[in-house]
Amino acid sequence: MGTPLVVMRDITKSFPGVRANDQANLVIHKGEIHALLGENGAGKSTLMSILTGLYRPDSGEIRINDQAVELHSPKAAVERGIGMVHQHFKLVKTFTVAENIILGLQTSGEYYHLPLIHNQIREFCQEYGFRIDPAAKVWQLSIGEQQRAEIIKVLFWGAEILILDEPTAVLTPQEATELYKMLRLMADRGKAIIVISHKLNEVLENTDRITVLRGGKSIGTVITKHTTEQELTTMMVGRSVLLDVPVKEQYHGDNILTLKQVSCLGNRGQLAIKQVSLEIAGGEILGIAGVAGNGQSELAELIAGIRSLEGGEKYIDGTNHTDSSVRTLIKAGVSYVPEDRLGTGLVPGLNAVDNFLLKSYQQSSSWFINWRQAVESTQAMIAKFDVKMASLLNPVKMLSGGNLQKLLLAREISADPRLIIAVYPMRGLDVGAMETVRKLLLAQRAAGKGILLISEELDELFALSDRIAVLHEGEVMGIVDPQAATIEAVGMMMAGKRMLKQDAV
Ligand SMILES: Nc1ncnc2c1ncn2[C@@H]1O[C@H](COP(=O)(O)OP(=O)(O)OP(=O)(O)O)[C@@H](O)[C@H]1O
Ligand SMILES: [Mg+2]
Repeated sequence: MGTPLVVMRDITKSFPGVRANDQANLVIHKGEIHALLGENGAGKSTLMSILTGLYRPDSGEIRINDQAVELHSPKAAVERGIGMVHQHFKLVKTFTVAENIILGLQTSGEYYHLPLIHNQIREFCQEYGFRIDPAAKVWQLSIGEQQRAEIIKVLFWGAEILILDEPTAVLTPQEATELYKMLRLMADRGKAIIVISHKLNEVLENTDRITVLRGGKSIGTVITKHTTEQELTTMMVGRSVLLDVPVKEQYHGDNILTLKQVSCLGNRGQLAIKQVSLEIAGGEILGIAGVAGNGQSELAELIAGIRSLEGGEKYIDGTNHTDSSVRTLIKAGVSYVPEDRLGTGLVPGLNAVDNFLLKSYQQSSSWFINWRQAVESTQAMIAKFDVKMASLLNPVKMLSGGNLQKLLLAREISADPRLIIAVYPMRGLDVGAMETVRKLLLAQRAAGKGILLISEELDELFALSDRIAVLHEGEVMGIVDPQAATIEAVGMMMAGKRMLKQDAV
C-alpha cells in the first residue's frame, strides 16, 4: 500500500473525568474509504477533532506523508489538506452556495471573484457527477444538497483527507447511496476518506477498511471484505449483541390517540399535514414511514401540541385535546422525543439533573423541588439506560451524540407516559444502544402504552411496528400490516402511490 497518508499513533486525550482517547492508533492510506466504528462515547468524534486541529492531544504523534506535524488549529489542519464535513452543517443559510465558499476562503486574505467560483463549483459537480446550483441560497436546499455544498467547500479548500461524521444519519436511503458514489469517485482520484458511522450494513457495503474504537482505545483495523457484522459488533461492544428483535405477541387496548382529519402548516406556511386520520391503541406501535421531509416532524409536533391544528380533531384517551397546550398534553401523558435533541429536546447548557427536573417540574403540583431526590432519580435513570457521562453535573452538551439521545429517551420514558412520540429514535445510536432502545420501546408497548415511531429505516419499522402508515407530502398513502406487506409496496407508497383498498388493514 506504500507510505500511509495519515498515521495517528498512541493518541491520548482526557476531559475532566473521562479519557476520551486512550493510546488510540489510526492509519489511513490514499485512495481508501476508511470507516471509524464504535459505541456511543467510544471517542470517534474526539479523535477526528484532534485530526482537524480542534483539540490538542495530551500525548501521541500525528504524521502526514511520513512527516510529524503539529495541528495547533483548524487552519493548520486545512493547510495540511485535512477537511471535515460536520454533522451539523456550518453554512450560512441566507447566503448562496458560492458565497458560503468564499466566506471560508476570505479568512486566508485572498480575493475571489464570484463568477470564477461559480465555474469552479460547476467543474466539481461535473467531476463528481452531481448537480448543485452555485447561486441557490442554502435555505432553499434539501439536507442532501446542503451536505454536498459542505463537501464542495471542503474540496475547494484543497482537502486531500476528507472526514465525515455520521454523514448519512440525516439522509434518505437514496441520498446515502448517492453520497457513497461520490465518495468512491473521490477515493478513486486519490483522496482519503474517513467516515464515522453506526450503520453496519452501510459500512460493510461501502468502505475498504474499518477501525474499531472501544472506551477510547483502538481495538483493531480490519479489511471490510473479510469481516462480518457479528465480528464488528463483538469488537465494538466486547460481547455479541442481539441484532434481531424477538417476535412479539399482539395485544390491543382502547385507543390512546385518535386523530380525525387533522391538518397543520409547516415552517414555510405550506400545508404540511393534510387531513390525516390515525389511531393508536394501547399496546400498539404505529410506525410512520416516509422519505424525510414529508410531514413526519410536523405530525409529531402537531400531536405534542407544539404546532397548532388548521383543522380536524385530536383526542387522547377519549378526551378532546384539539386545542390543548404542550403543558396540558404532558399532563395527559404525552411524551415527545424530538428530532432535534439539543434544541427542543434538552437544554445544552444545563446538567442532566436540571434537564430531568425541567420535565418533572412541569408535572408536579408543588412549588418545591427536592434536589437530593432529583439527583438520585437521575442517577438511577442513567444507570438503567446506560448513559455514559463523567458527571451528572456537567452540561449535557459535553455528552457524545448517542449518549445525549439515550438521556432524552430516559427522561421521556421515565415520566410514565400514555403515549410516546419517538422521532427517529435510533439515529446516531450504536448497535448496543439500538438494542437498548428497541427493548425499551417493546417494554413500553407490553405495558400498554401507545407508541408513534417515526423512522426512515424500513427494516426497523417492519421489525417493531404493529401497523405502518406511509406519509407522502403530508398525506397518508396507506396503512399496512408489516407481517403481510412487502418493503417494495411501502417503498411505492413512499414515492406517492396510494395503496389499493384490498391491501388495507
Ligand atoms: N468537550 C468535551 N468535554 C468533556 N467531555 C467530552 C468532550 N467531548 C467529548 N467528551 C467525552 O469524551 C468521550 C468520547 O466522546 P466522543 O464524542 O468522542 O464519542 P463518540 O465515539 O463520537 O460517540 P457518539 O457515537 O455517541 O457520537 C465521551 O465520554 C464524552 O462525554
Ligand atoms: Mg460522535
